[in-house]
Amino acid sequence: MLSRRTFLRSTAAVLLIPSRGSVPADVFTLGVASGDPLPDGVLLWTRLAPRPLEAGGGMGASPVEVRWEVADDERFRRVVRSGTAVARASNAHTLHVDVRGLGAARDYFYRFRVGSQVSPTGRTRTAPAPGASPRRLRFTTASCQNWQDGFYTAYRSMAAEDLDFVLWLGDYIYESAPWPGLVREHAGTGQPYTLDEYRIRHAQYRTDPDLARMHAAAPWIVSIDDHDVDDNWTGDLPADPRAVERVPFPARKAAALRAYAEHLPIRVGPRGRLFRRLSFGDLATVHVLDTRSYRSPHPTTIAQAREPWRTMTGDPQESWLVRGLAGSGARWNLLANQVMVAAGDSKPGPGEKYSFDGWDGYVAQRRRLLEFLGSGATRNPVVLTGDQHATWINELKTDFRAEGAPVVAPEFVATSITSGGDPDVARFWAERAVLQNENPHCRYLDNQRGYLLADLTPGELCVRLRVVDSVTDPSAGAARDAARFVVETDRPGVELEGPPDLSGAPGGTAL
Ligand SMILES: [Fe+2]
Repeated sequence: MLSRRTFLRSTAAVLLIPSRGSVPADVFTLGVASGDPLPDGVLLWTRLAPRPLEAGGGMGASPVEVRWEVADDERFRRVVRSGTAVARASNAHTLHVDVRGLGAARDYFYRFRVGSQVSPTGRTRTAPAPGASPRRLRFTTASCQNWQDGFYTAYRSMAAEDLDFVLWLGDYIYESAPWPGLVREHAGTGQPYTLDEYRIRHAQYRTDPDLARMHAAAPWIVSIDDHDVDDNWTGDLPADPRAVERVPFPARKAAALRAYAEHLPIRVGPRGRLFRRLSFGDLATVHVLDTRSYRSPHPTTIAQAREPWRTMTGDPQESWLVRGLAGSGARWNLLANQVMVAAGDSKPGPGEKYSFDGWDGYVAQRRRLLEFLGSGATRNPVVLTGDQHATWINELKTDFRAEGAPVVAPEFVATSITSGGDPDVARFWAERAVLQNENPHCRYLDNQRGYLLADLTPGELCVRLRVVDSVTDPSAGAARDAARFVVETDRPGVELEGPPDLSGAPGGTAL
């Protein structure tokens, strides 16, 4: 007779492991991913979805046991960690395996198995040990990959860069409705509102082979921005609070953030917290911000933008950031930020016109943050930003309109992977003249698609702007360097190294 314990265990096993025949074929259509690297571990991800554009992904309701393996070598001869995890319908059969017990600053290979089905192999890298002094870190920053605007050509080059990590700065998906006639079309019949609809949107993005390859090439450290949920949302408000939507905004936001957490290799903190810190020995600490979830509503006038109560981060996150910047002990402090910190006055002449969705809408908190960055209480702060769909290389000042104000930190705004499509040359050159005159703290502007590649050493941060010729031509070639920038330690200004690339018509320009 079975003991009660044995009975429970065997019942659980029967419930968890369906008979081999009941698992559909081709469960690994969405690839693998890793993220949030630690000195002793990394988060591994996959999703079982034989039919990714269907609700439920074609998996039915049963839980499925998945084996995972981490090895020193690509052929899995030396497996160093392995185990099983259960993929459940309640999480869209996504899996997050937080593997620990790994060595610091080392490459690992990982894969998943269901029965005889084996996932693609991913490569990842753990962070350096807490006391270590790494000689170099190499990472990219990128954002904004609207599916409908183009192909993810940039990732073909990024996957070959031998990265410690990818810093993702927001707009992983776009919530926009399918729009016929663009480069490629979103699935579905309208914008996503429900959990199933956001899951399908995420799944569609993951069917792109270049994006899948990039996730398998390096760990990602991801953050959210507006389009991951809804255009220009703030806190508990959609962009237009008066609009009557199919699903009320709080429920829509919850569905979007849940699908985001399910589909990306991210460690979500207590109460859904997405802001977090990752350390890379004594060389760098990455402070990942969430500039959406705790924001005050947008101002509508410049006077409102200066009201001291308005906050981009909420008070708890601001205290967390300032405490972490002061106490990190790292030589470089990288802020993974979403919307531009530098002023972006777009009105020619004496007047001012700003986008209030950026830090220009939250001037009092910006000033507080910039004064702190300039106070010497933290070492070598560098702001890394997305959202603009253009490259802006800025020198941040406590007062952008005072000529003599000192530079407190550099800001590197990464362009988009696809959003905005191929650049509009005439429009860029027209806008460039205005932006140049109105924003002298901006040292360089470029409207091509691509990403930033950063090499960080104890002595300097070197950033290369990598651009692709086209995101609408699927046969476009590899990314190339359009410009190179250097920040020296303890000197917050940005040096432009080498002549700007003006060979291609839409090219960048030094300001
Ligand atoms: Fe965007």
